Amino acid sequence: MSYPAIRLRRTRASAWSRRLHAETVLTPADLIWPLFVCEGDGVEEPIASLPGVSRWSVDGIVARGREARDLGIPCVALFPNTPPALKTEDGREALNPDNLMCRATAALKAAVPEIGVLTDVALDPYTSHGHDGLVDAAGYVVNDATADLLIAQALNQAAAGADIIAPSDMMDGRVGLIRAALEGAGHHNVQIMSYAAKYASAFYGPFRDAVGSRGLLKGDKKTYQMDHANTDEALREVALDLAEGADTVMVKPGLPYLDIVRRVKERFDVPVFAYQVSGEYAMIEAAAVAGAGDRDALVLETMMAFKRAGCSGVLTYYAAHAARLLAG
Ligand code: PBG
Repeated sequence: MSYPAIRLRRTRASAWSRRLHAETVLTPADLIWPLFVCEGDGVEEPIASLPGVSRWSVDGIVARGREARDLGIPCVALFPNTPPALKTEDGREALNPDNLMCRATAALKAAVPEIGVLTDVALDPYTSHGHDGLVDAAGYVVNDATADLLIAQALNQAAAGADIIAPSDMMDGRVGLIRAALEGAGHHNVQIMSYAAKYASAFYGPFRDAVGSRGLLKGDKKTYQMDHANTDEALREVALDLAEGADTVMVKPGLPYLDIVRRVKERFDVPVFAYQVSGEYAMIEAAAVAGAGDRDALVLETMMAFKRAGCSGVLTYYAAHAARLLAG
C-alpha cells in the first residue's frame, strides 16, 4: 500500500505528534562538560580561539561543578593550563599530587560529590614540547616509557578522587596497564573511558591554546593518533581497549567521525561517547556570528546527531548551554 493511504507527513503535522514519535531523546544526562583549570584565585581567563569558554581557577571550577549539578549534567572533564615554568621534557608535573588537576579534582569531589569527575591522561599539558609522551633524540614519541608515566599519572588522579580516567594519549597497551595499576591500588570502581579512536586532527587547535601547548608543539601527532583515512583500524583500537579493560570508549573528533561512532556501536554494543572538540565548537560559533545559522538550533541539532548515531553521551563545551536550552 502506498500514497495516499500512507502519508509520512501525518505524524509530523503537529508539535505534540512530533514529540510522540521522536526516536531519539536528548537530556542533560547525556552531556559531559570539559573545563579548563588555571592557577590563582578568583581568576577567569577567556580563551580567544574558543569564544565563550574560559579557564577558571579552582574556586571557579567548583562553581562550574555546582552549575553542572544544578543543570542535571552528570560529569565534568578537567584539563589543566600548566604554568610554563612547570613544563618539562618529561612532563613530570603530571605526577605531582598537588598539581592543578589534583587540586581541582579534590575540590570538586569535596564540594559537589554528586557529579562525576573525568580526568585526561596524557602528558601534553605538562611537556615543554607539547607532545603527549616522551620524545626521543629522533623526535619520536616512545611508547613503553611513556606508558609507565601514564600509569603514574592515572594513579595520581585516582588518588585525588577522579571517577573516570580517560587516557587520550594513544600509546599502545596503556589501558591494560592502567587498569591493572588501578586494581592494584584498590581503585576497583574507578572507570576507564578510553579515547579509543582518536584521530590526528586539525580540529584540536583551540584546545591547544587553552592548555598552552599550541606554540610549543613541534611537528604533529601522526605517529600516535590515527590517520583520518581509516575506519577498520578504529575497530581494532576499540577491540583492544575493551579487551584491556576499558569500561567505555570514545571517538574523537565528533561530528566529522559519526561513521566511526556508528560502526563501533554496531560492532561492540558498548557505551560509546564522542567528543565535540574545540575546533568543532569554534566552527559553530563562527557560523553563528556570521549569521549562517542560529546558534541554539545548531547546538541542539549536533547533540541530537551524536545521540542518533549511537552515542551514550557527548563531551561538549556547549554542555551547560545545551542543558539550559533543554530546560526550556
Ligand atoms: C590531549 C587532548 C587533546 C584534546 C583532548 N585531550 C589535544 C590533542 O590531542 O592534541 C583535544 C580536545 C579538543 O580539541 O577540544 N591529548
